[in-house]
Amino acid sequence: MLDKIESLYASFQNEITPLDKQADVLNLKASYIGKKGSLAEVLKGLKDATPEERKAIGPRSNEIKKNIEQAIVDKLKDLEVKEINEKLEKNKIDISLRDSLMENGLQAAGTHPVHQIQRKIEDIFLSMGFEVLDGPHVEDEFHNFEALNIPETHPARDMQDTFWFADKKHLLRTHTSTIQIRGMEERKPPFAFVGPGKVFRCERTDTTHEMVFHQLEGMMVGKGINTGHLIYFMKTLLKEIFKKDMEVRLRPGYFPFVEPGFELDIRWKKPDPKDESAKHSGWLELLPCGMVHPNVLRAGGVDPDEYTGFAFGLGLDRLVMVNYQIEDIRHLHRGDLRFNEQFSFF
Ligand code: DAH
Repeated sequence: MLDKIESLYASFQNEITPLDKQADVLNLKASYIGKKGSLAEVLKGLKDATPEERKAIGPRSNEIKKNIEQAIVDKLKDLEVKEINEKLEKNKIDISLRDSLMENGLQAAGTHPVHQIQRKIEDIFLSMGFEVLDGPHVEDEFHNFEALNIPETHPARDMQDTFWFADKKHLLRTHTSTIQIRGMEERKPPFAFVGPGKVFRCERTDTTHEMVFHQLEGMMVGKGINTGHLIYFMKTLLKEIFKKDMEVRLRPGYFPFVEPGFELDIRWKKPDPKDESAKHSGWLELLPCGMVHPNVLRAGGVDPDEYTGFAFGLGLDRLVMVNYQIEDIRHLHRGDLRFNEQFSFF
């Protein structure tokens, strides 16, 4: 009987070596040491064995069973490693490819200038302790209008031509001010965040108007926040973007969600005074902003008797156009590689 067990073990060792599928290994395990496996079968004869034989067979068969179990575990691990290595080999990324493409005259892709400026501004605000928030493109009437102090009868709804969904309740957001409401709903003051993103207007396009463009909303709410804080953060932002102190002025501006509301202008000089194609000299209207209207704070769950805040909405496409002297906003979305390549890397 002992011989039978030994030869069974030997044949197991022969059979396991060539296997290369997990399922076959598991089947082999069952056929040798499963409940109805061959080892169990042989051990049925134990009842007819002499006491001496039993003494020898018992420990040896246990040992063999353990060895088989271990061999199965090792084999499965080997197969797994082999499979991972094969996958890695198959999906290997050839990092020398980019260089060889460039050598053959192909351009590496760049980051879109709007995205570049967005990232830069996000970094500036992150360094000043602001969070960066996101919001949905498909919005409801409440977040786009109602909560921003623009009731249904308000003429301000006509200021923005809206892409409505058939249910007349949902729309493509017309501004990132929706993120003010979503941000307030989820936090307790004090807080500060910016929210960049695409916005949509059902408008005829021309050199300064697009149906899809980009804004970056900002909001800070806390005890005693006032216009001085607003001006401080805007000046710091502009200094970081333009790498010098910028002269700014505030003019009154009307937006239902701020009171008082302002237009912030910067003093702008043509990069080259002789270049007649470069417009913009003098005061340049840059961004609308203001102190958050109490109704808006209330709609976001903030008590206006205890807290105040400022908000602003920066047009990213416009900033890029001013910065690079781009005369037509439609270049930004045309996807013409000759245009995009000019901005390859920062
Ligand atoms: N949401 C406005 C728009 O798209 C821009 C704006 C104005 C945002 C004033 C603000 C603000 O946060 O305070 O026309």
